[in-house]
Amino acid sequence: MTMSLRQMTPSLGAEITGVDVANLDNQDFDAIYESFNRHSVVVIRDQNITPEQHADFSRRFGKLMVHVLKDDLLEGQPEIYRLSNKVENGVPQGRPNAGQYWHSDLTYEKVPSKGSVMYAMEVPDAGGDTLFAHTAASYEALSEPMKAFLSDKTAIHDFRHAYDTFSKRIPGTMPISEEVFAARPPVEHPVIRTHPETGRQCLFVNPGFTVRIKELSYDESDAILAYLYGHMIKPQFFYRHNWRANDLVLWDNRSLMHCAVGDYGPDQTRHMHRTTIMDGDAA
Ligand code: SIN
Repeated sequence: MTMSLRQMTPSLGAEITGVDVANLDNQDFDAIYESFNRHSVVVIRDQNITPEQHADFSRRFGKLMVHVLKDDLLEGQPEIYRLSNKVENGVPQGRPNAGQYWHSDLTYEKVPSKGSVMYAMEVPDAGGDTLFAHTAASYEALSEPMKAFLSDKTAIHDFRHAYDTFSKRIPGTMPISEEVFAARPPVEHPVIRTHPETGRQCLFVNPGFTVRIKELSYDESDAILAYLYGHMIKPQFFYRHNWRANDLVLWDNRSLMHCAVGDYGPDQTRHMHRTTIMDGDAA
């Protein structure tokens, strides 16, 4: 097999064909890793992998994180978080309506995520796309005074915020217990982070998990965040992924935010497995 790569937009996105991630030599892996840093979203088509192979491939990028929603993890393979509206014999096969708001995965963790690797097993006939917005491209397009203003600011991130603000309003969302929220108290991260591998500065706030900018009043923080969120999703920073079954998609949580589109009906199945890679090695 010969690997080939096609860039999808000038800011982000690449499609790779002609590889089998379960049997990848170091040279092809290095090319995928380089593409992950350069294009931020890498779509690898036509994969037939087991959950174990999915986790093994993901581990080549770094240590894997275990999602706080324990009921949605795959039995025997807890690094795999199941996002699914599928029900088998009355048993949900994952969390329905997950991630239907702009966010970067796990920014509510003290050590946030480097990237995610999602495998599509069943996809709707139409819809259920994932939107990606590039947070280095949007940072670079800000004026110098705005960059300077944001440079020393800190944001508070909270897992509960996404549930309270977005998820619980979507019919069919499963409740999350107080115990789970208590396990993830709010954390702080800089509003601007330097990508450790590309050296690019990235906006690191998102509507899902960012509660406020700590140094500002609540009103000021709301106004600045609303401006940034509108700016960050301008079309030129944006890629929309229309899933095919057997797509394996890697995305860089240091340089992107993303949003799942819940536009498909209950007669359609969307069944995904995701791993999440830690940014660094800390526990
Ligand atoms: C997520 O990782 O937030 C979900 C993305 C998706 O289901 O498209």
